Formats: sequence, structure tokens, C-alpha cells
Amino acid sequence: MKPTLTQELLLSLTADTPSISPKFFYDEIGSHLFEVITLLEEYYPTRTEKWIMDTYQSEIANAVGSCDALLDLGAGNCIKASKLFNSIKPKQYHALDISKEFLQAAVNDLQKQFPHIEMSAHAIDFSQTLAFPNLENLRKIFFFPGSSIGNYDPENADVFFSNLANQCNGNGGLLIGVDLVKDTQTLDLAYNDKLGVTAAFNLNALLYVNKLTGSNFNLANWEHHAFFNTSKSRIEMRLRALDDVKVTIPGLDSKDHVLSFKAGDLIHTENSYKYTQDHFVEKLRRAGFENIHYWTDPNNHFLVCFVNAKKIT
Ligand code: AVI
Repeated sequence: MKPTLTQELLLSLTADTPSISPKFFYDEIGSHLFEVITLLEEYYPTRTEKWIMDTYQSEIANAVGSCDALLDLGAGNCIKASKLFNSIKPKQYHALDISKEFLQAAVNDLQKQFPHIEMSAHAIDFSQTLAFPNLENLRKIFFFPGSSIGNYDPENADVFFSNLANQCNGNGGLLIGVDLVKDTQTLDLAYNDKLGVTAAFNLNALLYVNKLTGSNFNLANWEHHAFFNTSKSRIEMRLRALDDVKVTIPGLDSKDHVLSFKAGDLIHTENSYKYTQDHFVEKLRRAGFENIHYWTDPNNHFLVCFVNAKKIT
């Protein structure tokens, strides 16, 4: 049986390395805070990816070729994908994300602007294997922008890529954006902005957990902590206890669970992996993609790749 959210959180919060999954960032407030992060001076990935997509629009469209169905993984407000419609000309557009409500409204709006494209919105759980049986014989192009792949552990990213390559069934590809390794200062600043939006985004996970489980995390007892771990090539985001704190999580059997944290204790909330171009391209190749095209910005801060699934011979 699937564990309840309370069970899942109890397990992760009482592990040797206490953690809260990054999926608990994205309630309504968290989703809005993330949109604000993408506008910050320090957070270069979003605007750099946009620059690459705009600058190389026609080269990207040529590499992609024909597109029966564009599958937008983690579509959000669908704006990034909609910018591709005029160049890639998909016949169908399928938007996928964790929550359907926000997504459906965005798809409804888009459908009015692009009535000739068949569109749909789907809620999906990204931790499950994705499958698209209704689209089996179509040339599918998966779109996974924003370096969301950076939030997957590298082994899970490999499994995810292999699955996408299989889903293409020898005919299709993946258009993906990934953040590249760079100097530590630029990386640290991107996750420690001066306005404190990333701190609010991180702390909001505690409010969301309170809302979902009835727990009583008090924001005044926690601070945002993020740094680039060079040896693991990832930003690690955590929440650090400012005092000794006790947090109560009501159990299903009306038994309360009390968690104790000491001042300085950490709750891990997110990893954001940064890749080198060569390492990332190699990962895609190993997963079953070939014919690799890529584009970057003048600072080599971000990489956009289009790869074809290997033909089935
Ligand atoms: C969604 N994801 C790619 C963002 C990242 O950069 O890893 C989430 C984020 N966390 C803090 N700032 C942005």
C-alpha cells in the first residue's frame, strides 16, 4: 500500500539524514515563489536557457525535425513550450505536471491561441515510470527544460532517460536544458539571493508540510542553508535549526509523533546537480540517444541539447 504523506514524512524526517522531498516545495505559494526566483538577477538558469532557445530557435527546430506530439514534462504555465509552437509545429501538445488545476487553465488559454494543435493536460507522478500507450506510433518529442533534471540523483536521471528513449520507440527525441558546472561563487549566489526569495521558497516547505500533516514547524526556528558541494557537483539545500526544537506530527491513530532537533541540525530539502557538457552528453548517449545536438551561451553557463532516440534496427 502507498504510504500516507504523514508516514512518508515521518520516515524521511527521522532518517539518519533527515529530509523533506523537494516535491513539498510546490504548493500554491511555493510555485509562485519559484516563478519569482526565475526573475532574480542571481538566478541565471532561466534567462540563460531562454537566450539559447531564442538565439538558436531555427537550428533547434531543424534538429528536432517533424513532431507529431510534443510532450512537455513539468509544463507549469506552458510558456516555454508555447514558444516552440511556431518553429517546431507540433500536431499535438500534451502538458504534464504534478498538479492538474494550474496546468489545465494554462492549456485552455493556449488552446485558444493555437486552435489547430490538439492539446491535453495530465497530472503525473514523476517518480513513476512514464508511459504513453495512446501515442505509440507517433513521433514524440519530449521537452524537459529548466534543468529540472538537476533535481534527480544521477542514477535516477539515467533511469529516467532510458525510459524516455524507450518511449520514443525508435522515432522521436528529447529536447532538454541543463545547468552546467561553473565557478562556486556564481552557483552559491544563485541559491542565496539577496532578497531572500530562495530562503522563503525553502522555508515554505515547512508550511506546506504543516498544512498537509497538521504538524507545527515554526519558521522562526529555522533558517535557509544552501551551498555548492564541489565533490558531488551539486547545490545542497537544507533547513538549519536555530534552536533546540520539538515538532509534533499528529498520527493517523491520533497518536502524536514528536521529533526533536538540536540547534544546528539540518533537514535536507533539495539537490541541484550541475553537469559538465561532456558528462551530460555521455549520459544521454548511454541511455539510448544518438545524433546529439547542443547549444550553449557565451559564458557556458547552461546547455540545451536535442537528441534522437536510437533507431530500432
Ligand atoms: C526546479 N529546479 C530546476 C530549481 C533548481 O535550480 O534546482 C529549483 C530551485 N531551488 C532553488 N532555486 C531553484
